[in-house]
Amino acid sequence: MTAPKLIVGNWKMNGLQADSRERIEKLAEAVKSAKSGAFDMVLCPPATLIATVGWFLKESSLKWGGQDCHAQPSGAFTGDISAPMLKDLGCAYVILGHSERRQYHKETSEEVLAKAKAAHAAGLVAIICIGETDAERTAGKADAVVSAQLAASIPETATPENTVIAYEPVWAIGTGKVASSDDILKMHALIRGKSKVKSRILYGGSVKSSNAKEILHLANVDGVLVGGASLKADEFMAIAEAS
Ligand code: 13P
Repeated sequence: MTAPKLIVGNWKMNGLQADSRERIEKLAEAVKSAKSGAFDMVLCPPATLIATVGWFLKESSLKWGGQDCHAQPSGAFTGDISAPMLKDLGCAYVILGHSERRQYHKETSEEVLAKAKAAHAAGLVAIICIGETDAERTAGKADAVVSAQLAASIPETATPENTVIAYEPVWAIGTGKVASSDDILKMHALIRGKSKVKSRILYGGSVKSSNAKEILHLANVDGVLVGGASLKADEFMAIAEAS
């Protein structure tokens, strides 16, 4: 039997209490009636919704996580959230090094590595994101950029159980321009070959129900990291069911 695919929803900075409750309840209901063990599903809402998600999902097989954490467990870091704080809210996962954090918060791979270590120390699974920009791909540097990010972002505390790698080409995020099957196959094979640990490898970037089946059945694709489409319960469930 093949391992269940990992389907992760990244809600980014979207959702207020009132409009999220219905979506969370709908997902929990749908997951209850799905074939057990068919897929593993994780929701990563904004920090303000984690407690709400946790409350609604406490009886569900769905797990939840944060979208970032600090490298220190506590201290004078106004506005930041630590890995033990996420764990305290029942999180099992944390997304780290997302391209939006690398771009808008100037996060380096070295910082991502330190955060991943903190996540591991707190007992969280780190979903570490890597991926090239459009300019890097056009310049023929995609493989080199992804290899360098991979080498510099994964700490020595990583194991196949506590680490997931997400390949998200920046040009495919929120653009509707999904990477071709050939591009995904090549990059996932490269990541599989270069990873020191046999982690699950997710693809992310414009995944929706209409392309999920093809992507999820490619070699070395162990799941998907979904942005926009995870904000619609029916669409997100359809992606999971495509596995
Ligand atoms: P979209 O699915 O909206 O392209 O976002 C992908 C992503 O960034 C998930 O982390």
